[in-house]
Amino acid sequence: MFPNQVVDSFRGLKTPFYYYDLDVLKATLLEIKIHGIDRGYHIHYALKANYQLQVLEIAKEAGLGADCVSGGEIERALEAGFSSSQIAFAGVGKSDDEIMIALEKDIFCFNCESPQELEVIDALAGKTGKNARIALRLNPNVDADTHHYITTGLNENKFGINEEDLDAVLEKLSELSNLELIGIHFHIGSQIQKFTPFEELCVKANQLNDYIESKGFELSVINVGGGFGINYDHPNENSIPDFKGFFELFDKNIKLKSHQKLHFELGRSVIGQAGSLITKVLYTKEGRTKNFAIVDAGMTELIRPALYQALHRIDVLTSKLPEKTYDVVGPICESSDTFRKDIDIPEVRRGDIIAIRSCGAYGEVMKTQYNLRPKIASVFSDDLG
Ligand code: LLP
Repeated sequence: MFPNQVVDSFRGLKTPFYYYDLDVLKATLLEIKIHGIDRGYHIHYALKANYQLQVLEIAKEAGLGADCVSGGEIERALEAGFSSSQIAFAGVGKSDDEIMIALEKDIFCFNCESPQELEVIDALAGKTGKNARIALRLNPNVDADTHHYITTGLNENKFGINEEDLDAVLEKLSELSNLELIGIHFHIGSQIQKFTPFEELCVKANQLNDYIESKGFELSVINVGGGFGINYDHPNENSIPDFKGFFELFDKNIKLKSHQKLHFELGRSVIGQAGSLITKVLYTKEGRTKNFAIVDAGMTELIRPALYQALHRIDVLTSKLPEKTYDVVGPICESSDTFRKDIDIPEVRRGDIIAIRSCGAYGEVMKTQYNLRPKIASVFSDDLG
């Protein structure tokens, strides 16, 4: 991932910055094509993971659609060249303005999460003289077995329509004449590393599909969301997730009717391993019980360790000295501004360059300007020459 000439180009760049290896992204998309798209599956790229235009354009070229969660993301997807018929719009709190943008652009489908949201979309669609295609986001009550902040498919989570409300919602739909029900949607959580939750999801999706169709609705879209995890410990050995196993699981477990297509919304598994946060050691400090490597990136640039206790692999790119144990920390005045604790890495000196790995998804998009930190650059492998 970091041959010498890449590290040499890093030396001339102002740190910190996000670096994207587009070859990794393209190789990942090829696997998605071979095992998913070529099976007839529709894959929507979840922009929330990373909405860099270069990333979106490559995903679009590879045949993916777009999964958006805000008006801003819809506009960005259109700017990147996705056609409106490839755009799904999800989110538990869509504002009126955002719904209007989606209606005006005539997007493929709204994934709807509550009876009240259905009424609002119906009313706004009526006002603009449009018909809105919708999928119901159903809460399957499946445990994704992931960090509690990013599990979404349990009854206690704010997402989706619970099974006990389904009949009432279906009844309500018959009164909402500006809505056309085209599908059902699920998303049980993110960074799911085992296949079992997806198998359970298939069982639930099959039951609900049968039930809703038995009520006389025709569902052409079965959308099972995203959530497929990546390997944060070994990004080199596992730079591409096991898409073969993932899509085969759905092939085996999901029961589609002849008029139905299976849809996915993948974010992390598409772009996660292609990105790294490149940072420089500012200072080293020998504490009484700890050695600290203080780097110029902080939780402002990558919040995942502070927010989810996420462990990102750290590679030192410019030192071959024997290993030493460090806490690798940022410059922000909070103790949560720690990337790794007690990690063995080659001894570092001021100026050494470090790569924090597997940051392509939910890295750059979640950065903040806390402490009025300066904006940082994004560097793409194609730009390095
Ligand atoms: N569809 C829906 C409805 C979602 O809410 C999400 C992610 C996705 C698809 C894409 O999921 P993915 O394939 O990327 O797992 N910031 C957190 C992750 C939040 C995920 C939010 N929803 C993190 O850094 O781990």
